Amino acid sequence: MSSPTTPVDINPVPEAVTPIEACTLVIFGGSGDLARRRLIPAVYNLLLDGLLPAKYAVIGLGRKAMTDEEFRNLVKEGVIKHSRQALVEETWATFQSHLFYIQGENEDPHTYAALRAKAEQVEQAMQLPGNRIFYLSIPPSSFASVCEGLATAGLATSSGSSYSRIIVEKPVGRDLASAQQINAVTGKVFEESQIFRIDHYLGKETVQNLMVVRFANSIFEPIWNHKYIDHVQITVSESEGVGTRASYYEEAGALRDMIQNHLLQLLCLVAMEPPYSLDPNVVRDAKMEVLRCLRPIVGKDVERYTVRGQYAEGTAHGQPVPGYRREKGVNPNSTTETYVAVKAFVENWRWSGVPFYLRTGKTLPKRASEVAVQFKDIPQILFNADPARPQPANVLTLRIQPDEGLSLRIISRVPGTRAQTHPVEMDFQYSDVFGCPSPEAYERLLLDVMAGDASRFMRRDAVEASWDWVTKILDGWAQQKLRWLPEYQAGTWGPVEAERMIQNDGRAWRIL
Ligand SMILES: NC(=O)c1ccc[n+]([C@@H]2O[C@H](COP(=O)([O-])OP(=O)(O)OC[C@H]3O[C@@H](n4cnc5c(N)ncnc54)[C@H](OP(=O)(O)O)[C@@H]3O)[C@@H](O)[C@H]2O)c1
Repeated sequence: MSSPTTPVDINPVPEAVTPIEACTLVIFGGSGDLARRRLIPAVYNLLLDGLLPAKYAVIGLGRKAMTDEEFRNLVKEGVIKHSRQALVEETWATFQSHLFYIQGENEDPHTYAALRAKAEQVEQAMQLPGNRIFYLSIPPSSFASVCEGLATAGLATSSGSSYSRIIVEKPVGRDLASAQQINAVTGKVFEESQIFRIDHYLGKETVQNLMVVRFANSIFEPIWNHKYIDHVQITVSESEGVGTRASYYEEAGALRDMIQNHLLQLLCLVAMEPPYSLDPNVVRDAKMEVLRCLRPIVGKDVERYTVRGQYAEGTAHGQPVPGYRREKGVNPNSTTETYVAVKAFVENWRWSGVPFYLRTGKTLPKRASEVAVQFKDIPQILFNADPARPQPANVLTLRIQPDEGLSLRIISRVPGTRAQTHPVEMDFQYSDVFGCPSPEAYERLLLDVMAGDASRFMRRDAVEASWDWVTKILDGWAQQKLRWLPEYQAGTWGPVEAERMIQNDGRAWRIL
């Protein structure tokens, strides 16, 4: 595919409408894994791309005692290992002078007075106006203490001349009640307009492109409904096992960890009605409508519409993997699912009768995420006249990772004298057309928060609506009282029960 000669700006471009003001980013959990692997590298890449404001500061907060210098060295390692663009020593030298650290316990009220003093000192030295973004890269058990501490220290309110914003990392709860509690705690201190609940999938290039594909092309929208679409498959497949995250995963499982946030957000983008503008709340209203229309899966329906499984001994990346229940830190009698498949329905006019098959799992053969929209079969005449040899259906696939891009499967005639047809892919890859690798999701999302644009963040009502739907499934599973979950060999595409669920509908999972 050829690239456009002149890119067209989407109107409004958030950072053009709201120029990014000088700000201070405070990372609670600044010494943690997420900060080192994702957040600091993201800020560094924004700097390399010339997107950071000229004046900025980053303050990391954690329990470990560290000097600013030690913090800079710690995060430098993270940048060297994980940055999208290689570390450039000269740029790093400037960048690191904007990084600071403060030790503190989230639960200790003194932390917040000390943080305020540190922020004011840094801001004065660097001539920053006091715009502050607080990133909660910490366990949710600390959210309440942090919000209350920030409020007491006078750090939570925006004034006329400077703002205060908070970024809440997942997991926002583990069921509806706990999500409501977190939202109540943050909502008591911050206005909804100050809260940015992050789902990093929403910052991925192909995910952002979903709305553009649907609403910037005239060919898709007329056929984007139950009359033309047979079903949708949304897959987020992980090739890794539980690794070192057993204690978190045991409490979460695939439904909470992936479906409640990433897959439901993708479903919303596929299924939403066209919003009348790109205003963040208008877009989020449109997504919210989809969640409202999701058919609840309650009681015994979980047996029909969901499949869960656990990986058994096998291989991942060519390496032997023990079964999930034999992983370090996992209860040998665990019933935590490492795989889940759900058949969901959006009960409105557009999607009447169209199944949305969602699946996600660990130790699957490949790390890959995609949305595949499969169109209906053509009539059984002409090229589809022989029921023994049906033509494959058209499929529009949006690849989220790897090889971000989009492809459309169509049927073509095979050149030659014999009358033969063959499915072919019309393929577009970002890297081929636009050259440079796409920014990481956290880069886009941090920039959004600096610009005050919440379109790609989860609103309170959406978080609670998706937890409501997921909690009903969890309740149904609890009623099943299963002692063991169906197993699948590590390195395969999931339990046989998931194959059966889709085969019973006369369909098949896609092989990625
Ligand atoms: N890592 C990921 O890829 C990822 C992805 C999505 C979401 N998340 C979520 O993001 C959060 C952070 O994850 P992580 O992987 O970075 O965890 P982590 O490596 O365990 O780091 C946790 C950070 O929080 C600090 N911390 C924990 N309890 C604290 C307390 N009571 N007072 C002060 N500081 C405290 C730790 O400080 P010390 O180290 O100094 O003790 C550390 O800096 C978690 O909620 C996780 O679920 C992580």
